[in-house]
Amino acid sequence: MSALQEISLNIRNMKQLEYSVLARRTNQIKDELKKGVKKSYREVIDVSWGDPHRAGVKPLSFVRQVLAACIYPQLMDGDKLMVDVKQRAQMLLRACPGGSVGSYCATAGVPEIVERVSEYITRRDGGVPSHPENIYISSGSQWALTNILKVLVNSEASPRTGVLTPVPCHSTTILSLMALGAEVVPYYLREEQGWALDVEELQRAWGSAKEVCNPVGLYVINPGNPAGYVQSRKSMQEVIRFAAEKRLFLLADEVYQDCVFGEETEFVSYKRALAEMGSPLSDTVELASFHTTSKGLMGECGLRAGYVELVNLDPAVMKHIYSLFSADSCAPVLGQFALDVMTNPPQPGDPSYPLYMKETQHIRTSVAENVRRVEEVINSLPGFSCQPVEGGAFAFPRVFLPPKAIETAKELGMKPDTFYCMRLLEEAGVLSSPGSEYGQQEGTYHIRFCIMTPSEIMEEILRRLSTFHKRFMNEFS
Ligand SMILES: Cc1ncc(COP(=O)(O)O)c(C=O)c1O
Repeated sequence: MSALQEISLNIRNMKQLEYSVLARRTNQIKDELKKGVKKSYREVIDVSWGDPHRAGVKPLSFVRQVLAACIYPQLMDGDKLMVDVKQRAQMLLRACPGGSVGSYCATAGVPEIVERVSEYITRRDGGVPSHPENIYISSGSQWALTNILKVLVNSEASPRTGVLTPVPCHSTTILSLMALGAEVVPYYLREEQGWALDVEELQRAWGSAKEVCNPVGLYVINPGNPAGYVQSRKSMQEVIRFAAEKRLFLLADEVYQDCVFGEETEFVSYKRALAEMGSPLSDTVELASFHTTSKGLMGECGLRAGYVELVNLDPAVMKHIYSLFSADSCAPVLGQFALDVMTNPPQPGDPSYPLYMKETQHIRTSVAENVRRVEEVINSLPGFSCQPVEGGAFAFPRVFLPPKAIETAKELGMKPDTFYCMRLLEEAGVLSSPGSEYGQQEGTYHIRFCIMTPSEIMEEILRRLSTFHKRFMNEFS
């Protein structure tokens, strides 16, 4: 008998991602295209991930120049790099043991970078102080989130530890919760109200959870993934009051904080909202807030750098958190450098500032235009509806699948929205992901695709999607 027969039950119970069947077929289609098989498209457009570079966005020059100089300092000998690029690279290298990006650093991150991240948070939150000792840089924000969940979820407890989790929800968090043996307690976002987070629904979810588990955490994603809502201050205050009343630890996934597109919309961090509510809430509600280099204008997913800031945690718990983070020695140092640039970009007067502004402005304008076009095109198609996308990296429209399409999917052993995504991939060469991956109200179907893409690519996606969708609806109506 293989030792793997003994694999943890929690791991065995993890849900299989719907996406894997689509990814497999995508690879086959790419091979077929290479071999000259004729299709109505020459290449597959992959907008299934929240990965801007994969979707065609170019990396920011300042980021890559600083990283290049750090990896190969001899580049700084010539006159190809701007003086502020060299200064930044030198400052970052000086902060590393041995002056090299190849060294391990402190568990929580390179101390100078942690300090600069905390200064950034203080600026972002209008002066609400942030303390470096409460910040851990990690290899991606998901890793930090999983670590905090490890502290929160007692896998041996009975009843099980529950974490209130939005529906729809970023799928990786669900996987982390399942792997740890937590009870995922769903609370449904209100689609018809722009995917609003409603405290009455939290109350309902908490009430039903009390019968089966011990709810200790409340996970919120703001701005949302996959649904593109951005919470108002008022909504956040309601959530904070609810967390305080039920003694829930707030896990605020704020990785899309730089991706806010609605004209009237602004991002407010949970930490700021909490501080503004004053004592006793501001000194008692326990909060973890996550951010990353993967999202936003930088989109450096592959560099794997994020951080968590912890608020109001007991010092005894903080000690255990230190131990947990120590298990990975430290986060990738190159990613930490990118985090430094993300939180401290070039300023007016710096030689790199004009190009940095031009590039970031271009991304902002393209994404805002994409959002406008996605809503316009999708809402004009029969059997499709898209709530306003105020933030995040995705459109998450609802597809009103005809009963015949649902039946056919079932006959093929597929979830109905996976079937729709598969046909979209097969016939139009667009790789999206199905709503069932993220959870959705029973009987509703959605698809998710990334909007952080150059506008010409988005136009091509919308052209292919419109033609395909009309044909699909005709075929099954
Ligand atoms: C809501 C949310 N949280 C966390 C992550 C993970 O980001 P990272 O690359 O920092 O681990 C993602 C990635 O898509 C996300 O959408």
